[in-house]
Amino acid sequence: MSTKPVIGILTWRDGKRFAEPGYLRRLVTAGKRMGAETFLFSHQDVNTAEKKIRGFVPAKGGGWESRLYHWPQVVIDRYRKRVDAYMRLRHSGQFQFANSPFGKKWRVTELLARDERVNKWIPDTYVYAKGKVKTMLDRYPIVYVKPGNGTGGRSIVKISQEGKRYLASGRDRRLKKRQASFASREALENWILKWVREQRIRDGNFLVQQGLDLSLVPGRVADVRLLIQKNSAGKWDVTGCGVRLGQTGSSISNLHGGGRAIPFAAFVGKRFGSERTQLIERECHRMAHAVASVLEEKFGQMMEFGLDVGVDVAGRVWLIEVNPKPGREIFRQMGDARTYEEAIARPVAFALHLISSGQGQKKGAGNTGA
Ligand SMILES: Nc1ncnc2c1ncn2[C@@H]1O[C@H](COP(=O)(O)OP(=O)(O)O)[C@@H](O)[C@H]1O
Ligand SMILES: [Mg+2]
Repeated sequence: MSTKPVIGILTWRDGKRFAEPGYLRRLVTAGKRMGAETFLFSHQDVNTAEKKIRGFVPAKGGGWESRLYHWPQVVIDRYRKRVDAYMRLRHSGQFQFANSPFGKKWRVTELLARDERVNKWIPDTYVYAKGKVKTMLDRYPIVYVKPGNGTGGRSIVKISQEGKRYLASGRDRRLKKRQASFASREALENWILKWVREQRIRDGNFLVQQGLDLSLVPGRVADVRLLIQKNSAGKWDVTGCGVRLGQTGSSISNLHGGGRAIPFAAFVGKRFGSERTQLIERECHRMAHAVASVLEEKFGQMMEFGLDVGVDVAGRVWLIEVNPKPGREIFRQMGDARTYEEAIARPVAFALHLISSGQGQKKGAGNTGA
């Protein structure tokens, strides 16, 4: 048996079609470079009885090749679809995972809003019910309505006031821009009621949230994506952050929704000056560490988080969303190759740390979980 540590990456595949092929190709390659036997596998590749796994690695000249592998000592869960067979495997106890299962947006927001260590950064948030938008508009000039299980900016509406009228501007389930304006709160409320029925994602609920004024560039939404990861010593460390600037008139900043990636210091510095920008960045880091440790207490060991952070026009820092399986393309898009590399290497470094400190499964000793 080879003496190399064995790391499996659990993801979705259909034939040789993988979710996120670009990132996963780089991740497997980083694993190999760092001296680990690293491969992708999906739920259908696990042979529990014989303790064997079919693993996939990039083939020379493109595509993927597969063979049988030993049981992984640590598994990184990168599966981002809700497939029953995956969920069963995830909870079967057969693997030692680097990252625990995570909660839905509402549960996570609720936990953080109740925790004194982090609640100052959490916007006022409720589960949507008819009438809630009106109450929130009494308190805040901007209100967001968004799905409790959405991604990529889907089904999100921003509500604001323009003179005596109310403006709703958002993205539907397919990220198409939608806009409407209303003379009364009743008319607005009815439109929102229809929205949550039509734009619902699976059987999920909607949240109503205090809207932040993120128009650091007038007419546009800008927020910060921060990546915090466990490093080779098993400690949380901020890998980097960048600004996402949404399109003109867009209610969201998401890159998939047409947002652009910009280095943090340049962008925030332009608005707040370099000294204040440093303080803001430090607060973002402090918040990220606090949030990561609070969440880890509740959900068990985690490996990385992508935080959507709002820096409002007054320079206040807010937490908009926590992503447990974040992308890292922002670093590539803003031309920061070093941070991008680091963001890819860290999951491997953390998995290697778990193995070398005895927190992985024994080699060849697959626990069948039975
Ligand atoms: N409360 C809010 N105030 C201001 N902007 C928000 C708010 N909530 C969401 N947004 C904008 O919408 C984007 C998407 O929202 P988010 O909660 O991250 O959902 P998703 O899971 O779809 O990314 C955010 O990155 C931000 O630009
Ligand atoms: Mg988000």
